[in-house]
Amino acid sequence: MAGLSTDELMQVALEMAGMSRPPADSAIYVPGDSLRRVLFGIDIGPAELLIARELGCDGVVAHHPAGGSATLRFPEVLTRHVELMVEHGVPREVAREAIKPLVSRSILRSQAANYDHAPSFARLLRMPFLNIHLPLDEIGRRLMVEAIERHTSQLGREPLVQDVIDALLTLPEFAGAPTRIMVPVGAVDRTAGKVAVVHGAGTNGGAAVAKAYFAHGVPTVVYIHVAPEEVERLRAESDGNLIVAGHIAADLVGINRYVGELEARGLEVIRASGL
Ligand SMILES: [Fe+2]
Ligand SMILES: [Fe+2]
Repeated sequence: MAGLSTDELMQVALEMAGMSRPPADSAIYVPGDSLRRVLFGIDIGPAELLIARELGCDGVVAHHPAGGSATLRFPEVLTRHVELMVEHGVPREVAREAIKPLVSRSILRSQAANYDHAPSFARLLRMPFLNIHLPLDEIGRRLMVEAIERHTSQLGREPLVQDVIDALLTLPEFAGAPTRIMVPVGAVDRTAGKVAVVHGAGTNGGAAVAKAYFAHGVPTVVYIHVAPEEVERLRAESDGNLIVAGHIAADLVGINRYVGELEARGLEVIRASGL
């Protein structure tokens, strides 16, 4: 095969996710053509770039933002939370208000970041390098939603929170994960009601976003990870169910589909950092 360019690697992910252009948290740091063998890891820094060269790779793909515009513009993708909330019936004004603390924290964090650390080493190594974040999480979110719909529609009764967990466990990434799906807020034997899979919005929405769902007809929210202090707030201030699916297992749901597609196109993918 002729190999794939960094642009084509991005394009395949965008097509699979139904997106027309790269979101703010995904970027090509060093462009390259005719890639045949890439290292793919969830987190990539300078050491991993050097390891990729050591392994004879001609390109590197990260999932999480690794600098450049993907780090500097990261706060922009948090607005995806608003769309997801509105799709689930949360009033737009409430949704906008709920993400404010998240966005201001994220802006401060991106302002503090050394945005050119990993990209500068990729340039020195002349190693084609990109990260694809939101598109792969969107692929994963859709698969998680489908799994929940497929499993709970066959039950013939009101799904419980445990049924939502069982539905996620039909996906091999969760069934085989070393992490467990948890319910840190609420209980597995409660009726699930309407469920929101909150993934593919940059990061989890913390207590404020979960509370907005709970207050507007969505008693069960699925996050892939959450900070302990946000859980404490939800326990004290809400009556909903929060399912925490597990960060890396959930990231792999989308990543594995994408890697499968790259391999089907003849690319050799060396898996590392969680894959
Ligand atoms: Fe992710
Ligand atoms: Fe992640």
